[in-house]
Amino acid sequence: RRLLGTAGAAGAAGLVVGGAGGAFATQAARDRPAPLTGVGTRTVPFHGKHQAGIADPAQACGHLLALDLAPGADRKAAAALLRRWSATAADLAAGDVPKGDDTGVALDAGPSSLTVTFGFGRTFFDRTGLADKRPAALEPLPSFTADALDAKRGDGDLWVQIGADDPLVAFHALRLIQKQAGDTARTRWQMNGFNRTPGATGKPMTGRNLMGQIDGTNNPKPSDSDFDARIFVPEDSGDWMAGGSYAVVRRIRMLLDSWDHLSLERQEKVIGRRKSDGAPLSGGTETTPVDLNKIGEDGSLAIAGDAHIRVAAPESNRGAAMLRRAFSYHDGFLDDGSPDAGLLFVAWQADPRRGFVPVQRKLDRGDGLSRFLRHESSALFAVPGGCAQDEYVGQRLLE
Ligand code: HEM
Repeated sequence: RRLLGTAGAAGAAGLVVGGAGGAFATQAARDRPAPLTGVGTRTVPFHGKHQAGIADPAQACGHLLALDLAPGADRKAAAALLRRWSATAADLAAGDVPKGDDTGVALDAGPSSLTVTFGFGRTFFDRTGLADKRPAALEPLPSFTADALDAKRGDGDLWVQIGADDPLVAFHALRLIQKQAGDTARTRWQMNGFNRTPGATGKPMTGRNLMGQIDGTNNPKPSDSDFDARIFVPEDSGDWMAGGSYAVVRRIRMLLDSWDHLSLERQEKVIGRRKSDGAPLSGGTETTPVDLNKIGEDGSLAIAGDAHIRVAAPESNRGAAMLRRAFSYHDGFLDDGSPDAGLLFVAWQADPRRGFVPVQRKLDRGDGLSRFLRHESSALFAVPGGCAQDEYVGQRLLE
């Protein structure tokens, strides 16, 4: 049963008509379901060769949920859970009312670009007797000097990333996924994040993070010829991870009180781009290729030696690249009055040993930005390829 055009959509219709026609709207007009427009209508297909929620734009609301298998839950129980979860995620992404118990939280809304993405952590393979299937790329991330990690908010047997352009749609998916875990898996940690809402700016543009920078400009693009090779495990690898990707998840708190004290000029030097429009300090507009060799009028490098974009660039790291698809977070204020805010950094790559790890090693040795950041939690997940209509995510591993 589709949500659109059913009684479930009448609430939305009433709102639209009430808003447009005010007190003069007739009861009949109020009761007539109106088609959804705008943000609510957008769908991202759940089925496909890759899972949704990787190569498509990050949505306005994000929930990250890690779970541990309950004692006694085995491979079969995990397979049944992934089957349940995949069916629900597919229904929700298509705008259908999910089968089974529903909470009704998102009844009036369309799918709003909902994506639900599933991954497996290192420990999953031991708990399910699948240690021989654990990919080498899932080796633990090394520790870095700037780490201040809280183990309780890191890792996990299972991981679910939920994104939607409407907060109720996103929460609805989160709650169903969490309820369906039932006796099989228990929540280990959960984090909530956000991005700019589509339509909030005059024209579509790269989003900003909580430091105010335009963030995401030099990400690999799906139209790049080497995008798939950088982000996804080759489809012909013959491996259960074929078409999959690896997600590095880091909760990175921004030391915003210190950052906000910097002059605009210092802030721009730390990154190597202008704050207003994201243009590189070597010149041009946001999309102009960065010239790391450009010498400024004062005879020094236009993009400083420790600028974040110089230290993180593939050119500085033997081609290492990743797709950063982050959500900002704000969880109130700490005892010292500073914001508990920053980035739920999610980086996607075909192999973290050739993506996140070398780049973070280099950044950790002293890029200008690291002084204003604290990495507070860390996790790495193997995210299998997408599934077909009659399959579930992870089936090639679990059946
Ligand atoms: C670029 C901010 C953490 C890797 C950028 C840019 C900004 C930024 C503003 C320039 C625009 C763009 O190309 O996206 C931040 C903030 C961080 C953070 C605020 C933490 C809160 C990290 C981490 C990594 C990373 C942990 C990887 C380990 C990169 C890469 C680029 C980049 C690869 C593109 C460099 C290029 O090729 O031009 N970041 N970043 N960033 N960042 Fe970060």
